[in-house]
Amino acid sequence: MHNNRSRDWSQIFLQQGMRFAILIGVFATLFFYTQCSKGFSQGRQLYLNHCANCHGADGQGLRSLYPPIAQSDYLENNYEELACIIRFGIDKTLTVNGKSYSTPMVGLDELSEIEICNIVNFISTEWHPKNSYISLKDINMIIGKCK
Ligand code: HEC
Repeated sequence: MHNNRSRDWSQIFLQQGMRFAILIGVFATLFFYTQCSKGFSQGRQLYLNHCANCHGADGQGLRSLYPPIAQSDYLENNYEELACIIRFGIDKTLTVNGKSYSTPMVGLDELSEIEICNIVNFISTEWHPKNSYISLKDINMIIGKCK
């Protein structure tokens, strides 16, 4: 009887330990995916998943269809538009590095603001280093003001 009971307790301890470990895992994952920080690899992965099929894995663009993002003078001069372009798309005739583009880009409204924040910081770190790190708060504000 006594033995059984102590075995029950150790099993409960084991179960609680498992629950605790799972809880820690869930929090760690949540923390990881709710961060927007410089050099965070989520930005690269998101770029590859959501942008690279048109703009190229190296941001080089595709012929006269999709403008380049890497070293794009348009983007460099209008960097504050980037979050708005990602969320709402852009539809005008653009001149990028001397070439004209006029295929519209549809917005990617499935991306959260954290994800947009990570993409924006990935692009600046990788291709537009003159632009400083941008926080999630700034992204919220910029997207709130997109026209
Ligand atoms: C389905 C193809 C497609 C996808 C996917 C796409 N774009 Fe675009 N993007 C375009 C096209 C086409 C234009 C030109 C729009 C115009 O002329 O008005 C453009 C224009 C741009 C521009 C402004 C011009 C330049 O190159 O500097 C930026 C910046 C940009 N896209 C960033 C992104 C980012 C970041 C993503 C991913 C989150 C993305 N795009 C996903 C097709 C796409």
